[in-house]
Amino acid sequence: MNISLLQKYNKPGPRYTSYPPATFFHDGVSAENYKTMVVQSNLQQPENISLYLHVPFCKQLCHFCGCNTSCFPGNALIEQYMEAMAMEISSVSELLDTSRPLTQIHWGGGTPNSIDLKHVEKIMNTLLRTFNPAPKAEIAMECNPAYLNPEHIDQLASMGFNRLSLGIQDFNEEVLKLVNRKPSLYPVEKLISHMKSSGMEGVNMDLIYGLPGQTPASFKETIRKAIDVSPDRIVTFSYAHVPWVKSAQKVLEDIGLPKVEDKLAMFETAYNLLTENGYIAIGMDHYAKPGDELTIAMKNKKLHRNFQGYCTRETTGQVYGFGATSISQLQGGYYQNIKDTTKYIDSINQTGFAIERGYELTPEDTIRRTVINEIMCNGFLDFNDIAGDFGITTKELKTIVGYNKEKLKPYLEDGLLEIGKDHIRLKENGFLVVRNIAMEFDPLLSQSTNGQFSKTV
Ligand SMILES: C[S@@+](CC[C@H](N)C(=O)[O-])C[C@H]1O[C@@H](n2cnc3c(N)ncnc32)[C@H](O)[C@@H]1O
Ligand code: SF4
Repeated sequence: MNISLLQKYNKPGPRYTSYPPATFFHDGVSAENYKTMVVQSNLQQPENISLYLHVPFCKQLCHFCGCNTSCFPGNALIEQYMEAMAMEISSVSELLDTSRPLTQIHWGGGTPNSIDLKHVEKIMNTLLRTFNPAPKAEIAMECNPAYLNPEHIDQLASMGFNRLSLGIQDFNEEVLKLVNRKPSLYPVEKLISHMKSSGMEGVNMDLIYGLPGQTPASFKETIRKAIDVSPDRIVTFSYAHVPWVKSAQKVLEDIGLPKVEDKLAMFETAYNLLTENGYIAIGMDHYAKPGDELTIAMKNKKLHRNFQGYCTRETTGQVYGFGATSISQLQGGYYQNIKDTTKYIDSINQTGFAIERGYELTPEDTIRRTVINEIMCNGFLDFNDIAGDFGITTKELKTIVGYNKEKLKPYLEDGLLEIGKDHIRLKENGFLVVRNIAMEFDPLLSQSTNGQFSKTV
């Protein structure tokens, strides 16, 4: 795809890690609604359980960060926070049918590997005692390699962790300095070989393009280094610049963000280099090796998507979130906890729950969610099949998603998709603008101001 085409489609839009996007969450959803839905979720599909644990602390804040985190508050508060999280686990597990298979535990943040790992171990022991882990359950943690050493990897492996994500962002230390980030404490190849030798099956790597100091040439170098150390999965995030939400990002404007053409060239370079070197492009920003379960799921049109990115349904069930700002992603809706750490702790201590907002899906939303997911994950839509699954007519389905062939004309003319009588199929290049295509099936989007979202490429 040429850069002018990417530029044409580079406009604000959701990343569709949920449908509807989190910008639609509202405070009319309470802990009482959540409790009811947790009980209902026991009888809904998928039956497998995923647990998400959020650690909202970092030793140093990166200027680009879009995550829900804060600077290290000291050990006393961290201890109170982890105790509150254990209490929340106990409140929710009382409502859950814990005989359902537990297929995933995901620790995110913030930087979960920056706190004393004894806190993690305590919670892991509780989880593995309370729930019914499936034999191949994925137990993963997002790690900042600036605070990761081989002993930590051994500790995490002994707790059952089998996948770690390394937040590399960029191998170029000048770029890291500009964004207030420390490089990896150990050579990354050493960390990865230690992970493998301690029995961890999965190694992910996060990179970001569009940061100050990055050029297409320097990012190419970073991608080369990533390929050399050969993680199983690589995510190349487009830097999401949303200074109206994250004021710390304004600093990056003063330092100087790369020109749009350069950012798009970085995307193109990463895509070309990774796909020429044995990685398969998954969706819009993930890459995996051919034998990886994400690649297999994509081939079988079984890929799924949630707030943690692309995943498979075998691994990712209904997600129950714990900790400040965490989001539970259930069949019937989304439920988000209080953002402020101290208020979260107080609420858990008083009531055992801390939900402050969310979104409960209408039957139409559920249908739209399926359509958006099919486009975002599998690049394929069969209107008849989906209508059949929901017991409605194809005409009704098209009305619910606001389908209009005219809206897809530009994509058709640019060779990004093919349209049949009752199906749509994205061509390989179409995945590069998959967010834009999904937006054409989202009638709710017109109720939101586009300015809330980052650009699509
Ligand atoms: C929740 S963070 C946790 C990772 C860990 N704290 C670290 O920094 O290594 C997960 C990933 O989100 C990505 N990320 C953070 N802020 C972003 C932004 N503004 N735009 C795009 N990606 C972002 C980074 O690649 C990061 O590795
Ligand atoms: S990118 Fe990671 S380490 Fe940096 S501030 Fe965000 S969560 Fe913390």
